[in-house]
Amino acid sequence: MPMDVLVGLQWGDEGKGKIVDYLSQDADIVARWGGGANAGHTVYLDGKKHVMHLLPSGLLQGKMCVLGAGMVIDPEQLLKEIDGFAAQGIDVSPGRIMISSLAHIVLPTHRALDGAHEGGRGKVPIGTTKRGIGPTYADRARRRGLRAVMMKDPVKFGQQVRQLMSEHLDELRRFGIEPNLNFHAGWHKHEEYANRLAPYIKDTSVYLSNCLLAGANILAEGAQGTLLDVDYGTYPYVTSSSTIASSAALGLGLDSRCIRKVIGVAKCFQTRVGEGPMPTELPFDSVVAKHLRSEGKPGEEKGATTGRPRRVGWLDLPLLRYAARINGLDELVLTKLDVLSGLEFVRTCESYKYNGEEIFDLQGEVITNLKDCVPQYQDSLGWPAYDIVCGKELKEVRGNAGSYIQRVERAIGMPVSLVSVGVDRNDVIKSKGNWFLF
Ligand code: IMP
Repeated sequence: MPMDVLVGLQWGDEGKGKIVDYLSQDADIVARWGGGANAGHTVYLDGKKHVMHLLPSGLLQGKMCVLGAGMVIDPEQLLKEIDGFAAQGIDVSPGRIMISSLAHIVLPTHRALDGAHEGGRGKVPIGTTKRGIGPTYADRARRRGLRAVMMKDPVKFGQQVRQLMSEHLDELRRFGIEPNLNFHAGWHKHEEYANRLAPYIKDTSVYLSNCLLAGANILAEGAQGTLLDVDYGTYPYVTSSSTIASSAALGLGLDSRCIRKVIGVAKCFQTRVGEGPMPTELPFDSVVAKHLRSEGKPGEEKGATTGRPRRVGWLDLPLLRYAARINGLDELVLTKLDVLSGLEFVRTCESYKYNGEEIFDLQGEVITNLKDCVPQYQDSLGWPAYDIVCGKELKEVRGNAGSYIQRVERAIGMPVSLVSVGVDRNDVIKSKGNWFLF
């Protein structure tokens, strides 16, 4: 009864959507276990861009898709997504998509509170996506949240939404925000959302457990990234949910022993949206930063959810080793190797100088004091685009591009199983052996 778990190893946006799409060819079910519409998983199919915020990326491979109990679901956004895919002829019926009855519901007032809390932090905002994620998880912890199961009785759900929204409106007033009329009327719409979503709501823990017993393959799709995990990330500049591999079983209501393999996805460089420390960050307008951001090209480094240009920097190996350990990685997938092509040299951060000492691995307080870490770099020669060959017949990585992957493997002590070298579904090169040897 195997479940493979796919996690992001950096600050989200590692290109997980495309890798889930690729790996889900061998899966029967793709299940998301945490986060909400703060995610933006992008898949390019025949040059067309598809972005999923709530629906698992396995949808485009025609797989069964599950939204797990650990998620926070914005019904308005979900229906928008369902309707958008339906218009493209993709099956989005309750036979293809299931929502856990235990997942929590995001309301428009959660989104407004997210904005108000950010405003209240003055000069030290988190830089959230303002999708209401933090306030919804906070309501879950305060035990006043709304769960998906409540939608099965749409009229009662409408009243419960009204009650919680009025509590939120009081809180917003304390921030000096006088909510507009749309908020007052907003709860009505939730009755309609509930009517439409009720058929999708199931006990997904039972469903997934039975599927595993029957021998199905499940791919658990992580959202955000390890460094945004609420406990193990760069707190407080993190999201409000658990993003690491061990939370997959919890968020899906499964026996943790069902995890067969943990696959981690990392970009060949660092990116970050929102605030918080990033030791290898490059000056925003530098030539290399613009190159890494692929400005004006497909796959440009802009937040898929917010459209914000991403901060970029060189690959940070101490952070990658930390993420590999925290997740118990079995395999490493590298993305965007092609983006580094054409640079004269590439840098990797091998260690940090911290409190006068050179450190290779993050221990103790270092993750909380990341801003005081000074990266120690190693430079290596860059490579031309033709070192990466990704045709129908031949797929290989040569020369300095190949050496770069091997350097990462050695530094992490982990085989690279897959390298993504372009935006399209087929721009993927598989390792020929156990390790990425050429
Ligand atoms: P929140 O999850 O909207 O509360 O945002 C908290 C932090 O996580 C902010 O820095 C966001 O930019 C970041 N974040 C949340 N979701 C994602 C994601 O899917 N990709 C990248 N960053 C994210």
